[in-house]
Amino acid sequence: MKEVLDLISEEVVRAFEAAEIDAKYAKVGLSNRPDLCEYQCNGAMAAAKEYHKAPIQIATAVCEHLSKSEMFESVEAVNPGFLNLKLSPSFLASYVTKMGEDTKRLGLDKIEQPKTIMIDYGGPNVAKALHVGHLRSAVIGESIKRIGRFMGNEVIGDVHMGDWGLQMGLIITELQLHKPELPYYDESFTGEYPKEAPFTVTELADLYTTASGKSKEDAAFKEAAMQATFELQNGRVGYQELLKQILSISVADMKANYEKLDVSFDLWKGESDAQPYIPDMVAKMKEDGFAYESEGALVVDVKEETDTKEVPPCMILKSDGASLYNTTDLATMVWRMQDYHPDKMIYVVDKRQELYFTQVFRCAKKTGIVPESTDLQFVGFGTMNGKDGKPFKTRQGGVMRLSALLQEIHDMMYEKIMANGTMTPEEAEETANVVALSAVKYGDLSNQASKDYIFDMERFTSSEGNTGPYILYTIVRIKSILNKFFGDTSADERAAKLAQFELMAPASESEKSLMLELVKFNTSIRNAYEETAPHKICAYIYDVANAFNHFYHETKILAEEDEQKKEYYIHMLDITRAVLETSIDLLGFKAPERM
Ligand code: ARG
Repeated sequence: MKEVLDLISEEVVRAFEAAEIDAKYAKVGLSNRPDLCEYQCNGAMAAAKEYHKAPIQIATAVCEHLSKSEMFESVEAVNPGFLNLKLSPSFLASYVTKMGEDTKRLGLDKIEQPKTIMIDYGGPNVAKALHVGHLRSAVIGESIKRIGRFMGNEVIGDVHMGDWGLQMGLIITELQLHKPELPYYDESFTGEYPKEAPFTVTELADLYTTASGKSKEDAAFKEAAMQATFELQNGRVGYQELLKQILSISVADMKANYEKLDVSFDLWKGESDAQPYIPDMVAKMKEDGFAYESEGALVVDVKEETDTKEVPPCMILKSDGASLYNTTDLATMVWRMQDYHPDKMIYVVDKRQELYFTQVFRCAKKTGIVPESTDLQFVGFGTMNGKDGKPFKTRQGGVMRLSALLQEIHDMMYEKIMANGTMTPEEAEETANVVALSAVKYGDLSNQASKDYIFDMERFTSSEGNTGPYILYTIVRIKSILNKFFGDTSADERAAKLAQFELMAPASESEKSLMLELVKFNTSIRNAYEETAPHKICAYIYDVANAFNHFYHETKILAEEDEQKKEYYIHMLDITRAVLETSIDLLGFKAPERM
C-alpha cells in the first residue's frame, strides 16, 4: 500500500506542475508545527529564486490547485511561503480501512528485491556467564532480525560464540590442576573419551573465574594457559575433545538464557568453526600479495588516503603463528560467503570495537573474501550504565549477570502485580515474566543503539511514561474493551464481525489524532528497517499509545448509544491493537492478556 506521505506528495506534485513550478520543489514532510497543520511543504521558498517570485505567491498558486483535492480538509499558504496541509477525515478513514483489511501487514509492503542478510549478534563467550554487555547485542540484534524478516528478506542470525581464545586455555589449564587424571591430558591416550562432561555449568564458570584471576598474578600459569591455547588451536586431540565438552555444557546454558530473553539464533557457530578456513585464507592472502610480515607478525595494510584517524594494519597471525580475534572473524566471513552468499552482513557489537571492525571490513573487501557487492555494516551500541553513570554493576559492585538482572526485574514486576490483588500467584508469575521482558527490551531499544543509556529499573518498570509496561498497559486496555464487546465469540467470528464494522470519518480531534498516528505505520517500520533503527519503532508506538489513551479518555466507547458508531470505534480499536502488537513483536516482546 502506498504510504500516506507518498500519496500526499503525488497530489502536491500535481499542484506544483499545474502552477507551472518544477515538481522537484514539491517535497512534503510531517509538520513541525502540529498545532498548525499535519503535513507541510516548504518548496515555495526554494523555488522563489528560480522563478523570481515571492515565495508566498508561489505557495498561493499551488494552494489554489491543491484545494480542489479531496485528500485535504484544509490547505493554507502562509507567510513567508509555507504550505500547511491537513488531511481530510474521510481520506484518513478510508486509508485506515485498507490497513485493517490485512491486520498482519497493516498496509506495509514487503520490499521488491529481498536480500539475504546475515546478522552476527549475541557474541557470548563460552564459559563466561552472560553479562549485561551481551544483553544489548542480543536485544538489538533480535529486533533487527525480526524487522528485516518482516520486510521480506531472508535473515540468518548467527550467535558467533567466543570459543577460541585464551579463555579456553585458561579452563584447560585450571581443570588439569583439579583433575590431572582425565584422559584429555594424556597425549598417548588412544581409547574412547568419556561421554559425560567433567564439570557442571557452575563449575565451568568457577574454573574460568579462578583461572582468569590467577592469570593476572601468576605469570607461569598464564604462560601455561597460552601454551594450552596454542596446542588446542594446533589440533591437540585431547584438548579438542575437551573443547567439545566445554561447548556442549556452555551452549545448553546459553540457549536457556537466550530463550528467557525470547532471542533465538539460526546458527550456533563460534570462532572455532572458522578454524578450518584459516590456512587457505592465509595462504591466499600471501599469494595475492596482500599479507606481509611485519615485526614477525603477518599483517594486511588497510589504511586509506581519506582517513582522518590512523587505521593500523589488520593483523592476521601473531608472530608465533597463533590466530587472533581478527583471524577468526575473517575466516568466518569465508564460510558465510561460501555457504550463504549474503548480500549483507550486519554486526551488532559494542561500539568500542568500531575501529577493529573498520580494519576487518576493509581487509575482507581488499583481499576479496567479501565481494564489493556485499554490504558490511557495523551497528555499534553504547554502554548500559547504572544510575551513577558508570557501567552497570551489582549492588556489591561486581559484574551483573544477565540472569540476575532479569530475576531482579521479574521480582519487582511480580510484587507490583501481586499488590494489585487481581491475580493468582501463578498468573502473576507468568505475567511478571512477560512484562519484565518488555521493561528490559523497550528500555534498551527506545534509545538510539549507539548511545550509552542508564538502566533505571524503577523507570523501566513503571506503567507510566515512555516504557514497555506503558505500551503493554495500552494493549491490555484495548484487549479488555474488545473482550467485553465480543464476549465469548470465537476468533473467526470476531474477525468476520470486525470486517463488517465500517470506519467513519473521525469527528473529534482525538479520533483524528489517533488515525493520523495509525496511518504512519508503514512509513515508521520502513524507516526503522532502512536505518537499522529499532528505536524508531519505539518512538512510533509511544505516539500511537498516547494518541489512543487520549482518545480513550475523551470517548465513551462501550457506552456509545449509536450502534454504528460503537462498531466503528471497536474496529479502530482492533486496528490500533494490531499496530501495537505487530510493532512490539518486531521489538521482540509480547503483551499479556491481563495485567
Ligand atoms: N565475543 C565478543 C565479545 O564478547 C563479541 C563478538 C562479536 N562478534 C564478532 N564477530 N566479533 O566481545
